[in-house]
Amino acid sequence: MHFRFIFAFMKRLKQFLIILFSLSVTCLNAREVINFNNVWRFSLDMGADESAAAPGFDDSGWRVLNLPHDWAIEGDFDEHNPSGTGGGALPGGIGWYRKTFRVSKKDKGQVFSIEFDGVYMNSSVYINGHLLGTRPYGYISFSYDLTPYINWNGDNVIAVKVDNSDQPNSRWYSGCGIYRDVRIVKTNPVHVAQWGTYINTEISDQATIVNVEVTIENDSPDPAEITVWSGIVDEGKGVSMIAGHLVASNGKNTIQQQVHMTEPHLWSVDDPYMYTMVTEIRLNGKTIDTYSTPFGIRTIVFRADSGFYLNGEHVRINGVCNHHDLGCLGAATNERAIERQLQILKGMGCNGIRCSHNPPSPILLDLCDRMGFLVMDEAFDMWRRRKTDRDYARFFDDWYERDLTDLVIRDRNHPSIVLWSIGNEVLEQWSDAKADTLSIEQANLILNMGHSEDQLAQEGEMSVNSLITARLAEIIKKLDPTRPVTAGCNEPSPGNHLFRSGAIDVIGYNYHNQNVPSVPRLFPGKPFIITESVSALMTRGFYEMPSGQMMTRPVRWDRPYFNETFSCSAYDNVATPWGSHHEENLIFLNSQPFVAGQYIWTGFDYIGEPTPYGWPARSSYFGIVDLAGFPKDIYYLYQSEWTDTPVLHLFPHWNWEPGEQIDMWCYYNNADEVELFINGKSQGTRTKDAQHLHVVWNVTFEPGTVKVVARKNGVETASREIHTAGEPAQIRLTPDRSTIKNNGTDLSFVTVEILDKDGNLCPNADNLVQFQVEGKGFIAGVDNGSPISLERFKDNKRKAFYGKCLVVVQNDSRKGKIKVKASSEGLKDAHIVLKCARQTK
Ligand code: GAL
Repeated sequence: MHFRFIFAFMKRLKQFLIILFSLSVTCLNAREVINFNNVWRFSLDMGADESAAAPGFDDSGWRVLNLPHDWAIEGDFDEHNPSGTGGGALPGGIGWYRKTFRVSKKDKGQVFSIEFDGVYMNSSVYINGHLLGTRPYGYISFSYDLTPYINWNGDNVIAVKVDNSDQPNSRWYSGCGIYRDVRIVKTNPVHVAQWGTYINTEISDQATIVNVEVTIENDSPDPAEITVWSGIVDEGKGVSMIAGHLVASNGKNTIQQQVHMTEPHLWSVDDPYMYTMVTEIRLNGKTIDTYSTPFGIRTIVFRADSGFYLNGEHVRINGVCNHHDLGCLGAATNERAIERQLQILKGMGCNGIRCSHNPPSPILLDLCDRMGFLVMDEAFDMWRRRKTDRDYARFFDDWYERDLTDLVIRDRNHPSIVLWSIGNEVLEQWSDAKADTLSIEQANLILNMGHSEDQLAQEGEMSVNSLITARLAEIIKKLDPTRPVTAGCNEPSPGNHLFRSGAIDVIGYNYHNQNVPSVPRLFPGKPFIITESVSALMTRGFYEMPSGQMMTRPVRWDRPYFNETFSCSAYDNVATPWGSHHEENLIFLNSQPFVAGQYIWTGFDYIGEPTPYGWPARSSYFGIVDLAGFPKDIYYLYQSEWTDTPVLHLFPHWNWEPGEQIDMWCYYNNADEVELFINGKSQGTRTKDAQHLHVVWNVTFEPGTVKVVARKNGVETASREIHTAGEPAQIRLTPDRSTIKNNGTDLSFVTVEILDKDGNLCPNADNLVQFQVEGKGFIAGVDNGSPISLERFKDNKRKAFYGKCLVVVQNDSRKGKIKVKASSEGLKDAHIVLKCARQTK
């Protein structure tokens, strides 16, 4: 730091904190971020009729709603919906949103912009009838400057046309509408640009240097002589800061700064410690903008010989891939719903998320920062070669540069992100993949077929496909040289055009475990990660025996599969031909220490892609957790292997026909042996080993009690019992949280179980349950985790599926109580009361 700054520095450090704390109260001249989610008008009836963009258009008959909103999730499943079963069989169409607002005359001279976190897809945004722009990619965040078109004397109208009529355009459920947050940002004409800070850190034994690059935008014609202060705030205390001078001319101006720190608290998976960088712009002694950037300090290294290191310590990436939908809430982003997913995943020891296969919601990344996940942030599922008829491939040439640039600039301050992925299974891996003529289902499957040698790139060749790879990596590297670039490939050979480009830093491929041992030989010196693994199939609550018989479904990638149950066994005995069973995969990876880790397909079930079935199946079977958020049995395999949480999970249920031969499985940890008893009679003791991560007993069913006991050093450490359940008699409601915030978006996920008169779960119950919600909330959605239920997600009733269903209750912004009642014919009702309390933090 220069000497002349020292005095000013001390003074500013004090002032800085005062400003920081007064920010939420009032700060003249500083930026204002206005939540713009509420009270929009919406219509699905206008089609392409642009008259809805006109400010005077009469929208009084339109529906009033709050964003984020997904209109597809409100619809009915239909085999003939253009998304197809692969896309979730829910409706598409063209939707219009309008919102009227006023701007105070006093603000004339300030700059107003509107920020969208994501609109699926092909959005056109208008203000007062003026088209601000269109954005085809449904997952990208974008903004527009409203200032030149603002009416300072009266109403202003924002109109958004969302066109998702051109389908199929996705291999999974996309959702439709303004499904992420919208805000208006008011600033001084001289201000920090959108996503205008870039922070990275250099850590050595001597010092920690925090590099800050600030991009200032000057929207006024005159140059401005400003001071830019950057200060690190740690739990409300300023720890270090620096100032720099800049003459900001019209347009964008960048200043580089370095802030020094001593003994920083590092960010890690177990201790995800975050700091805030506060950037302040001063002009003529007045603060004209204040901008906060949360960041973390950590080092990441991928090594070819031994995998991934966080802060110098070896960490195996035990990750999962997820799509963005939130089950019955659809694509509409909700912080609590994402947090719940992450909490459930953290509970099984998962430490990584792959945002498959598109830019995620910024909320997901904030949560990953705060909760400690290692994220692979992915840009595209296709480049120029399409996978479905009307997908992003048609926009790629015109938009890839802008979309990838915006993704990296938006996300590069998140400590959770450890890898950039430029694409998933793009067809440019081969010279000619001929996918353009395929149906959506075939396209899904062809990606995993073998391709012949002549479609690979020769050594030294730099094909067009390799050049695209290099170009995409170059865009990223220019904006963020601190993280490696990878891609989720499915051609494991070095002749893969992406690998041939030399631009992929961490070799990544999906599945192909059999090729993994050859990686060090074929890609000498290159780190390696399994970008996608497993793709096993399971329906919660459904069991097919003999459980040791491993089933491949479909038998071959190109053969259709049918089975009238439309179910897949939950024993971990069904997998796709390109995938593997969970346990087999885990054991395999344990034997490959050079691999940085894996992202399992998938953490949660998602809407669409119901492999191996077609209609009426409409959501996936891949999840470790079902669509409603109920863990499948396999969840406990991971929990037993990846955590120290005591696990003793016995399954399946104990309701069979007398005399039936049943395979009882158990996942456990922290014990030397487990013993099974049926009605008090021992069925033997079992112990798992490196080749068997579960134990099994083949037993004969008799009604009563099955019990498992775990012992360590001969001492009983835990036991579990399952009783044969009688007829359904009552309902139990269990909220995940009984006090929620009164912020209008918080949720309580209420598990609904059908029990017999003694309180045992009825494992085959499918009773229809009716919900009544009164007070300060409403039903946000209902589900039961069944991939084949054609019931609506937005409803006040749901059938139980293998004994369980879910009702999601949302606060309506008011403080007070929500009463939830569940009833079902012939069963005793259940009641709970939820509390909606003021948000404390
Ligand atoms: C992969 C693909 C995923 C999903 C999965 C299903 O090949 O990357 O998006 O389709 O297969 O097994």
